[in-house]
Amino acid sequence: MFLPKTMKAVQLNQYNSNLLRVLVAMRVTEVPLPQPAANQVLVRVEASPVNPSDLAFLRGGYNVRKALPAIAGFEGAGIIVSTGEGSNKNLIGKRVTFYVNDDRQGAWTEYVALSDKDYFVVDKDMPVEQAACLFINPFTAWALVELARKGGHKAIIQSAANGQVGKFIRHFAQSHHIQVINLVRKLAQVEALKNEGAKYVLNIGDDNFEEQIRTLASELKATAAIDAVGGEMSGKLFNALADNGEVIVYGGLSGQPLSGFDTLGAIFGNKTVRGFNLNGWISEKKSMSSIRFHKRYRRSSPAASSPRKSRHHSLSISLWRASGSIFPRCQQGKFSCDLKPLQQTTNNKQQTTNNKQQTTNNKQQTTARASIPRESSKEFNPCGKSSPHTL
Ligand SMILES: NC(=O)c1ccc[n+]([C@@H]2O[C@H](COP(=O)([O-])OP(=O)(O)OC[C@H]3O[C@@H](n4cnc5c(N)ncnc54)[C@H](OP(=O)(O)O)[C@@H]3O)[C@@H](O)[C@H]2O)c1
Repeated sequence: MFLPKTMKAVQLNQYNSNLLRVLVAMRVTEVPLPQPAANQVLVRVEASPVNPSDLAFLRGGYNVRKALPAIAGFEGAGIIVSTGEGSNKNLIGKRVTFYVNDDRQGAWTEYVALSDKDYFVVDKDMPVEQAACLFINPFTAWALVELARKGGHKAIIQSAANGQVGKFIRHFAQSHHIQVINLVRKLAQVEALKNEGAKYVLNIGDDNFEEQIRTLASELKATAAIDAVGGEMSGKLFNALADNGEVIVYGGLSGQPLSGFDTLGAIFGNKTVRGFNLNGWISEKKSMSSIRFHKRYRRSSPAASSPRKSRHHSLSISLWRASGSIFPRCQQGKFSCDLKPLQQTTNNKQQTTNNKQQTTNNKQQTTARASIPRESSKEFNPCGKSSPHTL
Protein backbone atom coordinates (compact mmCIF):
# COMPACT_ATOMS: atom_id res chain seq x y z
CA MET A 1 0.00 0.00 0.00
CA PHE A 2 1.28 3.46 -0.89
CA LEU A 3 1.96 5.57 2.17
CA PRO A 4 2.93 9.24 2.00
CA LYS A 5 6.08 10.48 3.70
CA THR A 6 4.24 13.27 5.46
CA MET A 7 0.75 13.77 6.83
CA LYS A 8 -1.44 16.55 8.08
CA ALA A 9 -1.99 17.06 11.78
CA VAL A 10 -3.88 19.60 13.84
CA GLN A 11 -1.09 21.21 15.78
CA LEU A 12 -1.40 22.79 19.20
CA ASN A 13 1.03 25.70 19.54
CA GLN A 14 0.23 27.05 22.99
CA TYR A 15 -1.61 26.12 26.15
CA ASN A 16 -3.95 28.81 27.41
CA SER A 17 -6.78 28.80 29.92
CA ASN A 18 -8.65 30.91 27.36
CA LEU A 19 -9.80 28.19 25.00
CA LEU A 20 -10.59 30.61 22.21
CA ARG A 21 -7.00 31.80 22.10
CA VAL A 22 -5.77 28.24 21.97
CA LEU A 23 -8.09 27.37 19.12
CA VAL A 24 -7.25 30.44 17.09
CA ALA A 25 -3.56 29.59 17.36
CA MET A 26 -4.01 25.99 16.19
CA ARG A 27 -2.88 25.09 12.67
CA VAL A 28 -3.18 22.21 10.26
CA THR A 29 0.47 21.37 9.66
CA GLU A 30 2.45 18.91 7.54
CA VAL A 31 4.48 16.55 9.74
CA PRO A 32 6.46 13.33 9.09
CA LEU A 33 4.49 10.11 8.91
CA PRO A 34 5.08 8.06 12.07
CA GLN A 35 6.82 4.73 11.50
CA PRO A 36 5.41 1.76 13.41
CA ALA A 37 8.07 0.29 15.71
CA ALA A 38 8.31 -3.41 16.47
CA ASN A 39 4.95 -4.76 17.63
CA GLN A 40 3.20 -1.57 16.59
CA VAL A 41 0.66 -0.89 13.87
CA LEU A 42 0.15 2.20 11.75
CA VAL A 43 -3.46 3.39 11.67
CA ARG A 44 -5.01 5.77 9.14
CA VAL A 45 -7.30 7.86 11.32
CA GLU A 46 -10.88 8.09 10.11
CA ALA A 47 -12.53 9.93 12.99
CA SER A 48 -11.72 11.42 16.35
CA PRO A 49 -14.00 13.16 18.84
CA VAL A 50 -13.51 16.29 20.91
CA ASN A 51 -14.06 15.20 24.50
CA PRO A 52 -14.08 17.42 27.62
CA SER A 53 -10.64 15.97 28.40
CA ASP A 54 -9.35 17.29 25.05
CA LEU A 55 -10.56 20.76 25.91
CA ALA A 56 -8.96 20.52 29.35
CA PHE A 57 -5.73 19.41 27.68
CA LEU A 58 -5.77 22.34 25.24
CA ARG A 59 -6.25 24.70 28.17
CA GLY A 60 -3.29 23.21 30.00
CA GLY A 61 -5.55 21.99 32.80
CA TYR A 62 -5.22 18.27 32.28
CA ASN A 63 -2.85 15.78 33.84
CA VAL A 64 -1.27 15.22 30.44
CA ARG A 65 0.95 18.03 29.17
CA LYS A 66 2.90 17.43 25.97
CA ALA A 67 5.92 19.32 24.73
CA LEU A 68 4.87 21.98 22.19
CA PRO A 69 4.12 22.00 19.36
CA ALA A 70 1.94 18.98 20.05
CA ILE A 71 -0.82 16.98 18.42
CA ALA A 72 -3.99 16.80 20.50
CA GLY A 73 -6.75 14.18 20.58
CA PHE A 74 -6.82 11.17 22.87
CA GLU A 75 -9.03 8.69 21.02
CA GLY A 76 -10.28 7.79 17.58
CA ALA A 77 -10.91 5.10 15.04
CA GLY A 78 -9.19 4.11 11.85
CA ILE A 79 -7.86 1.39 9.61
CA ILE A 80 -4.60 -0.45 10.14
CA VAL A 81 -2.52 0.23 7.03
CA SER A 82 0.84 -1.25 7.97
CA THR A 83 2.50 -3.16 10.77
CA GLY A 84 5.88 -3.02 12.47
CA GLU A 85 8.21 -5.95 12.82
CA GLY A 86 6.67 -8.75 14.80
CA SER A 87 3.09 -7.55 14.36
CA ASN A 88 0.43 -9.71 12.81
CA LYS A 89 0.15 -8.76 9.10
CA ASN A 90 -3.44 -10.04 9.08
CA LEU A 91 -4.37 -6.94 11.02
CA ILE A 92 -3.92 -4.80 7.91
CA GLY A 93 -7.29 -3.54 6.74
CA LYS A 94 -8.97 -4.00 10.14
CA ARG A 95 -10.82 -1.11 11.73
CA VAL A 96 -9.71 -0.31 15.25
CA THR A 97 -10.71 1.99 18.05
CA PHE A 98 -7.71 3.46 19.81
CA TYR A 99 -6.41 5.52 22.66
CA VAL A 100 -3.26 7.59 22.24
CA ASN A 101 -1.37 9.26 25.05
CA ASP A 102 2.02 9.92 23.53
CA ASP A 103 4.13 13.06 23.70
CA ARG A 104 4.80 13.03 19.95
CA GLN A 105 1.43 11.82 18.71
CA GLY A 106 -2.28 12.56 19.00
CA ALA A 107 -5.53 11.48 17.42
CA TRP A 108 -6.20 14.71 15.50
CA THR A 109 -4.00 13.63 12.66
CA GLU A 110 -4.04 11.41 9.59
CA TYR A 111 -1.91 8.53 10.86
CA VAL A 112 -0.91 7.23 14.25
CA ALA A 113 1.43 4.41 15.32
CA LEU A 114 0.02 2.30 18.16
CA SER A 115 1.14 -0.43 20.49
CA ASP A 116 -1.24 -3.32 20.91
CA LYS A 117 -2.38 -2.27 24.35
CA ASP A 118 -3.74 0.97 22.92
CA TYR A 119 -6.22 -0.32 20.37
CA PHE A 120 -8.59 -3.12 19.66
CA VAL A 121 -10.25 -4.31 16.51
CA VAL A 122 -13.92 -3.41 16.18
CA ASP A 123 -16.70 -4.98 14.25
CA LYS A 124 -16.47 -4.09 10.57
CA ASP A 125 -20.07 -2.89 10.50
CA MET A 126 -19.66 -0.51 13.39
CA PRO A 127 -20.12 3.11 12.25
CA VAL A 128 -16.75 4.80 12.41
CA GLU A 129 -18.12 7.67 14.48
CA GLN A 130 -19.16 5.25 17.20
CA ALA A 131 -15.90 3.37 17.00
CA ALA A 132 -14.07 6.66 17.48
CA CYS A 133 -15.81 7.24 20.82
CA LEU A 134 -15.50 3.72 22.12
CA PHE A 135 -12.52 4.13 24.32
CA ILE A 136 -12.61 6.99 26.81
CA ASN A 137 -16.20 7.33 27.93
CA PRO A 138 -17.32 3.68 27.79
CA PHE A 139 -14.17 2.44 29.53
CA THR A 140 -14.40 5.19 32.14
CA ALA A 141 -18.00 4.26 32.87
CA TRP A 142 -17.19 0.60 32.90
CA ALA A 143 -14.24 1.07 35.25
CA LEU A 144 -16.33 3.24 37.59
CA VAL A 145 -19.14 0.70 37.73
CA GLU A 146 -16.55 -2.01 38.35
CA LEU A 147 -15.30 0.01 41.32
CA ALA A 148 -18.85 0.22 42.61
CA ARG A 149 -19.44 -3.47 42.05
CA LYS A 150 -16.20 -4.52 43.69
CA GLY A 151 -16.94 -2.18 46.58
CA GLY A 152 -20.18 -4.06 47.14
CA HIS A 153 -22.34 -0.99 46.50
CA LYS A 154 -25.93 -1.92 45.73
CA ALA A 155 -27.02 1.63 44.99
CA ILE A 156 -25.04 4.61 43.70
CA ILE A 157 -25.63 8.27 43.01
CA GLN A 158 -24.22 9.85 39.88
CA SER A 159 -23.99 13.50 38.95
CA ALA A 160 -23.97 14.77 35.33
CA ALA A 161 -26.18 11.79 34.61
CA ASN A 162 -27.19 13.13 31.21
CA GLY A 163 -23.59 13.19 29.97
CA GLN A 164 -22.02 10.52 27.79
CA VAL A 165 -20.20 8.85 30.68
CA GLY A 166 -23.38 9.06 32.74
CA LYS A 167 -25.35 7.23 30.09
CA PHE A 168 -22.84 4.43 29.93
CA ILE A 169 -22.74 4.22 33.74
CA ARG A 170 -26.49 3.74 33.78
CA HIS A 171 -26.21 1.01 31.20
CA PHE A 172 -23.43 -0.92 32.93
CA ALA A 173 -24.93 -0.47 36.40
CA GLN A 174 -28.21 -1.90 35.23
CA SER A 175 -26.48 -5.03 34.02
CA HIS A 176 -25.06 -5.49 37.53
CA HIS A 177 -28.40 -4.74 39.18
CA ILE A 178 -26.96 -1.66 40.83
CA GLN A 179 -29.59 1.01 41.47
CA VAL A 180 -28.66 4.47 40.20
CA ILE A 181 -29.87 7.81 41.47
CA ASN A 182 -29.33 10.11 38.49
CA LEU A 183 -28.72 13.82 39.02
CA VAL A 184 -29.35 16.28 36.20
CA ARG A 185 -29.72 20.04 36.08
CA LYS A 186 -32.70 20.60 33.79
CA LEU A 187 -36.34 19.61 34.16
CA ALA A 188 -36.44 18.39 30.56
CA GLN A 189 -33.56 16.01 31.36
CA VAL A 190 -35.52 14.54 34.28
CA GLU A 191 -38.32 13.68 31.91
CA ALA A 192 -35.98 12.47 29.15
CA LEU A 193 -34.11 10.10 31.46
CA LYS A 194 -37.35 8.76 32.93
CA ASN A 195 -38.65 8.16 29.43
CA GLU A 196 -35.47 6.20 28.72
CA GLY A 197 -36.26 3.98 31.70
CA ALA A 198 -34.22 5.57 34.50
CA LYS A 199 -36.15 5.01 37.74
CA TYR A 200 -34.59 7.65 39.98
CA VAL A 201 -33.84 11.08 38.55
CA LEU A 202 -33.44 14.27 40.58
CA ASN A 203 -32.98 17.84 39.45
CA ILE A 204 -30.10 19.49 41.33
CA GLY A 205 -31.80 22.84 40.75
CA ASP A 206 -34.81 21.95 42.95
CA ASP A 207 -35.07 24.05 46.12
CA ASN A 208 -35.18 20.98 48.33
CA PHE A 209 -32.66 18.99 46.30
CA GLU A 210 -30.43 18.22 49.29
CA GLU A 211 -33.38 16.89 51.27
CA GLN A 212 -34.51 14.82 48.27
CA ILE A 213 -31.11 13.26 47.73
CA ARG A 214 -30.65 12.44 51.42
CA THR A 215 -34.08 10.79 51.60
CA LEU A 216 -33.62 8.77 48.43
CA ALA A 217 -30.04 7.77 49.24
CA SER A 218 -31.16 6.57 52.65
CA GLU A 219 -34.15 4.69 51.20
CA LEU A 220 -31.99 2.88 48.61
CA LYS A 221 -28.99 2.57 50.96
CA ALA A 222 -26.75 4.30 48.44
CA THR A 223 -23.16 3.97 49.59
CA ALA A 224 -21.22 5.35 46.60
CA ALA A 225 -21.42 8.51 44.54
CA ILE A 226 -19.78 8.90 41.16
CA ASP A 227 -19.21 12.56 40.59
CA ALA A 228 -18.24 14.44 37.41
CA VAL A 229 -19.04 17.90 38.80
CA GLY A 230 -16.82 18.50 41.84
CA GLY A 231 -17.14 21.75 43.83
CA GLU A 232 -20.07 21.87 46.24
CA MET A 233 -21.72 18.94 44.51
CA SER A 234 -19.10 16.55 45.86
CA GLY A 235 -19.87 17.71 49.40
CA LYS A 236 -23.61 17.32 48.89
CA LEU A 237 -23.10 13.78 47.61
CA PHE A 238 -20.76 12.95 50.46
CA ASN A 239 -23.26 14.20 53.02
CA ALA A 240 -26.13 12.27 51.44
CA LEU A 241 -24.35 8.91 51.57
CA ALA A 242 -24.80 6.43 54.37
CA ASP A 243 -21.90 5.64 56.72
CA ASN A 244 -18.89 4.00 55.06
CA GLY A 245 -19.91 5.62 51.80
CA GLU A 246 -17.40 6.87 49.25
CA VAL A 247 -17.44 9.62 46.66
CA ILE A 248 -15.45 8.88 43.51
CA VAL A 249 -14.66 12.11 41.67
CA TYR A 250 -13.83 11.66 37.98
CA GLY A 251 -14.63 15.09 36.53
CA GLY A 252 -14.48 18.75 37.49
CA LEU A 253 -17.30 20.19 35.42
CA SER A 254 -18.09 22.88 37.99
CA GLY A 255 -14.54 24.22 37.75
CA GLN A 256 -14.66 24.65 41.55
CA PRO A 257 -12.59 23.07 44.31
CA LEU A 258 -14.22 20.25 46.27
CA SER A 259 -16.14 21.68 49.24
CA GLY A 260 -18.96 21.34 51.74
CA PHE A 261 -18.02 18.00 53.28
CA ASP A 262 -19.54 17.17 56.63
CA THR A 263 -16.50 16.74 58.86
CA LEU A 264 -18.27 14.45 61.31
CA GLY A 265 -19.36 12.23 58.43
CA ALA A 266 -15.71 11.73 57.58
CA ILE A 267 -14.69 11.07 61.17
CA PHE A 268 -17.56 9.08 62.60
CA GLY A 269 -19.23 7.93 59.40
CA ASN A 270 -15.97 6.63 57.95
CA LYS A 271 -16.80 8.22 54.61
CA THR A 272 -14.11 8.81 52.02
CA VAL A 273 -13.46 10.75 48.83
CA ARG A 274 -11.16 9.59 46.09
CA GLY A 275 -10.38 10.36 42.48
CA PHE A 276 -10.44 8.28 39.35
CA ASN A 277 -8.69 8.84 36.06
CA LEU A 278 -8.69 6.60 33.04
CA ASN A 279 -5.00 7.16 32.25
CA GLY A 280 -4.02 5.65 35.57
CA TRP A 281 -6.51 2.86 35.18
CA ILE A 282 -5.29 2.00 31.67
CA SER A 283 -1.66 2.06 32.74
CA GLU A 284 -2.47 -0.70 35.20
CA LYS A 285 -3.70 -2.89 32.33
CA LYS A 286 -1.36 -4.91 30.18
CA SER A 287 -3.75 -4.68 27.27
CA MET A 288 -7.21 -3.25 26.84
CA SER A 289 -8.26 -6.55 25.32
CA SER A 290 -7.30 -8.28 28.55
CA ILE A 291 -10.26 -6.81 30.35
CA ARG A 292 -13.01 -9.24 30.83
CA PHE A 293 -16.24 -7.42 30.54
CA HIS A 294 -16.96 -8.78 27.09
CA LYS A 295 -17.80 -12.09 28.71
CA ARG A 296 -20.59 -10.55 30.66
CA TYR A 297 -22.28 -9.44 27.45
CA ARG A 298 -21.60 -12.49 25.36
CA ARG A 299 -24.99 -13.96 25.85
CA SER A 300 -26.75 -10.87 24.53
CA SER A 301 -24.72 -10.96 21.35
CA PRO A 302 -25.62 -13.73 18.89
CA ALA A 303 -22.60 -13.04 16.72
CA ALA A 304 -20.34 -13.11 19.72
CA SER A 305 -21.59 -16.50 20.81
CA SER A 306 -19.95 -18.12 17.81
CA PRO A 307 -16.78 -19.87 18.96
CA ARG A 308 -15.01 -18.56 15.86
CA LYS A 309 -15.38 -14.96 16.90
CA SER A 310 -12.53 -13.35 18.74
CA ARG A 311 -12.64 -11.74 22.15
CA HIS A 312 -12.21 -8.39 20.46
CA HIS A 313 -15.20 -9.09 18.34
CA SER A 314 -17.53 -9.83 21.22
CA LEU A 315 -16.22 -6.82 23.10
CA SER A 316 -16.88 -4.45 20.25
CA ILE A 317 -20.30 -5.85 19.57
CA SER A 318 -21.36 -5.49 23.16
CA LEU A 319 -20.10 -1.94 23.36
CA TRP A 320 -21.69 -1.11 20.07
CA ARG A 321 -24.98 -2.42 21.31
CA ALA A 322 -24.62 -0.41 24.44
CA SER A 323 -23.73 2.75 22.58
CA GLY A 324 -26.57 2.27 20.11
CA SER A 325 -29.06 2.83 22.88
CA ILE A 326 -26.94 5.54 24.41
CA PHE A 327 -26.33 7.68 21.35
CA PRO A 328 -29.73 7.60 19.63
CA ARG A 329 -28.46 9.83 16.85
CA CYS A 330 -25.90 7.21 15.93
CA GLN A 331 -28.67 4.90 14.91
CA GLN A 332 -29.67 7.40 12.28
CA GLY A 333 -26.21 7.27 10.82
CA LYS A 334 -25.31 10.59 12.35
CA PHE A 335 -23.29 11.25 15.37
CA SER A 336 -23.16 14.03 17.85
CA CYS A 337 -22.00 12.90 21.27
CA ASP A 338 -22.52 16.55 22.25
CA LEU A 339 -19.21 17.37 20.69
CA LYS A 340 -18.23 20.64 19.19
CA PRO A 341 -17.67 20.37 15.46
CA LEU A 342 -14.16 20.08 14.21
CA GLN A 343 -14.42 22.08 11.00
CA GLN A 344 -11.88 23.31 8.55
CA THR A 345 -12.04 26.82 7.17
CA THR A 346 -11.94 25.38 3.75
CA ASN A 347 -14.36 24.63 1.00
CA ASN A 348 -12.21 21.75 -0.05
CA LYS A 349 -14.34 19.53 -2.23
CA GLN A 350 -12.42 16.42 -1.38
CA GLN A 351 -13.49 16.77 2.21
CA THR A 352 -17.11 17.03 1.23
CA THR A 353 -16.90 13.92 -0.92
CA ASN A 354 -14.88 11.85 1.49
CA ASN A 355 -16.83 12.75 4.52
CA LYS A 356 -20.50 13.17 3.79
CA GLN A 357 -21.32 13.62 7.45
CA GLN A 358 -19.20 16.71 7.60
CA THR A 359 -20.74 18.53 4.70
CA THR A 360 -22.10 21.94 5.33
CA ASN A 361 -25.50 20.85 4.04
CA ASN A 362 -26.55 20.01 7.52
CA LYS A 363 -25.47 22.85 9.72
CA GLN A 364 -27.03 21.42 12.85
CA GLN A 365 -25.07 18.23 12.65
CA THR A 366 -22.10 18.23 14.96
CA THR A 367 -19.81 15.53 13.77
CA ALA A 368 -16.92 13.87 15.50
CA ARG A 369 -14.98 13.34 12.30
CA ALA A 370 -11.60 14.89 12.16
CA SER A 371 -10.51 13.91 8.71
CA ILE A 372 -8.08 16.40 7.36
CA PRO A 373 -8.09 17.19 3.66
CA ARG A 374 -4.74 16.88 1.94
CA GLU A 375 -5.06 20.37 0.51
CA SER A 376 -6.58 22.33 3.28
CA SER A 377 -6.13 25.91 4.25
CA LYS A 378 -3.57 26.36 6.98
CA GLU A 379 -6.16 28.03 9.18
CA PHE A 380 -8.06 25.79 11.51
CA ASN A 381 -11.42 26.94 12.76
CA PRO A 382 -12.51 24.48 15.39
CA CYS A 383 -16.07 25.56 15.88
CA GLY A 384 -18.58 28.24 15.32
CA LYS A 385 -19.78 28.47 18.89
CA SER A 386 -17.79 28.99 22.00
CA SER A 387 -16.80 25.83 23.79
CA PRO A 388 -17.72 25.02 27.37
CA HIS A 389 -15.29 26.47 29.90
CA THR A 390 -15.39 23.45 32.10
CA LEU A 391 -13.33 20.31 32.45
N1 LIG B 1 -11.36 10.92 34.97
C1 LIG B 1 -11.42 10.39 33.77
O1 LIG B 1 -10.63 9.51 33.42
C2 LIG B 1 -12.49 10.85 32.84
C3 LIG B 1 -12.78 10.12 31.68
C4 LIG B 1 -13.83 10.55 30.85
C5 LIG B 1 -14.51 11.72 31.17
N2 LIG B 1 -14.13 12.42 32.28
C6 LIG B 1 -14.82 13.64 32.69
O2 LIG B 1 -16.16 13.32 32.92
C7 LIG B 1 -16.93 14.48 32.74
C8 LIG B 1 -18.15 14.14 31.90
O3 LIG B 1 -17.71 13.76 30.60
P1 LIG B 1 -18.81 13.50 29.47
O4 LIG B 1 -18.08 13.13 28.23
O5 LIG B 1 -19.86 12.58 30.00
O6 LIG B 1 -19.39 14.96 29.33
P2 LIG B 1 -20.66 15.45 28.53
O7 LIG B 1 -21.20 14.38 27.66
O8 LIG B 1 -20.28 16.75 27.94
O9 LIG B 1 -21.78 15.68 29.66
C9 LIG B 1 -21.59 16.55 30.69
C10 LIG B 1 -22.90 16.59 31.49
O10 LIG B 1 -22.64 17.27 32.69
C11 LIG B 1 -23.58 18.30 32.88
N3 LIG B 1 -22.90 19.42 33.50
C12 LIG B 1 -21.96 20.22 32.93
N4 LIG B 1 -21.55 21.13 33.83
C13 LIG B 1 -22.24 20.89 34.97
C14 LIG B 1 -22.27 21.50 36.23
N5 LIG B 1 -21.49 22.55 36.53
N6 LIG B 1 -23.11 21.02 37.17
C15 LIG B 1 -23.88 19.96 36.90
N7 LIG B 1 -23.91 19.33 35.70
C16 LIG B 1 -23.10 19.80 34.75
C17 LIG B 1 -24.10 18.63 31.51
O11 LIG B 1 -25.40 19.08 31.66
P3 LIG B 1 -26.19 19.89 30.51
O12 LIG B 1 -26.62 18.82 29.55
O13 LIG B 1 -27.28 20.50 31.27
O14 LIG B 1 -25.21 20.87 29.92
C18 LIG B 1 -24.02 17.29 30.79
O15 LIG B 1 -25.20 16.54 30.98
C19 LIG B 1 -16.01 15.52 32.13
O16 LIG B 1 -15.58 16.38 33.16
C20 LIG B 1 -14.84 14.71 31.63
O17 LIG B 1 -13.65 15.46 31.57
C21 LIG B 1 -13.15 12.01 33.11
